[in-house]
Amino acid sequence: MTVPSTLPELDNPVARSCLASLYGRAVEAMHPDGAISDVEAVRVYVSLDLDLAASLPPPDGFHARRAALFDGYIEAWAAAVGRPATVIELGCGLETESSRLQHLDLDWVCIDGPDVIALRDATLPPGPRVKHVVADVRSLSWTAVVPPDRPVLVTLQGVPMYWSRREAAALLRSLVEWRSDVAIVFDTVTPARAAAACREAEADAASMVPPMLWGIRGSRLRPLLRRWIPDARALDWVRVVDRGHDQLSGRELDGLAACVAVVVGPGCQLDGARARAARAARSAVARRLAQGP
Ligand SMILES: C[S@@+](CC[C@H](N)C(=O)[O-])C[C@H]1O[C@@H](n2cnc3c(N)ncnc32)[C@H](O)[C@@H]1O
Repeated sequence: MTVPSTLPELDNPVARSCLASLYGRAVEAMHPDGAISDVEAVRVYVSLDLDLAASLPPPDGFHARRAALFDGYIEAWAAAVGRPATVIELGCGLETESSRLQHLDLDWVCIDGPDVIALRDATLPPGPRVKHVVADVRSLSWTAVVPPDRPVLVTLQGVPMYWSRREAAALLRSLVEWRSDVAIVFDTVTPARAAAACREAEADAASMVPPMLWGIRGSRLRPLLRRWIPDARALDWVRVVDRGHDQLSGRELDGLAACVAVVVGPGCQLDGARARAARAARSAVARRLAQGP
């Protein structure tokens, strides 16, 4: 899995990993019955004209299913807050979520390092509702551009596993301290998946798969998050990427490659009716995903 020679200038393997996500979504979206509809991912993938098939294993639908889970939660949250709101994509890479969810009344702040944002500017230009920001997302310097008066949801898709566990915990905590009404959606991988990525990166210095610095079994995620952010109002749900079911036993959860988790800050005011609407939307997504690609 070696980096193609025509690869755009991306300064490190974590930055390059955004191409694997794009590739995964684009290939899945090109299937007539794919797990995701993502016209922009296909357009950008084709326009980059990279031979990613020579550098990456054939996509197995993982990235597309993960993106569909993030979409499902954002959609449910937007319905629940019921007014114009902001989504902040930390480590946005070449994600195309804002175009997949353009029917929602959302503004987007997409944040990544300078080389990724340069590639994004060239392939997915910002617009009236989409802002691009260059920053190390862990610094929180980007909070200055976020409107203070709108509900805020932060996504970290395919990002925290590339930091140390301590850094991931520190960022989640500081997000809840920054805005107590925040909702955060992020994903984690298992220790086995993290170890495999480290082995691969070690064996091939030009690998497209960067080392993943930590992993956690699905059944341990919820208790860990309660320790990290004790004052979170709710850990809304922990959902498995591989199947799209909420209610799996600990053993089943541990057998899966990755989880998507949601943390809702102590000041997040979703009343009962809106929370029920959110639950209904989530169940619809789960049913759709359970049907498989
Ligand atoms: C695997 S890619 C995921 C991209 C996108 N979220 C997606 O799902 O397609 C990881 C992204 O996180 C970005 N990233 C990781 N750590 C970062 C940091 N500290 N500051 C800004 N961006 C970061 C990388 O540059 C890369 O674009």
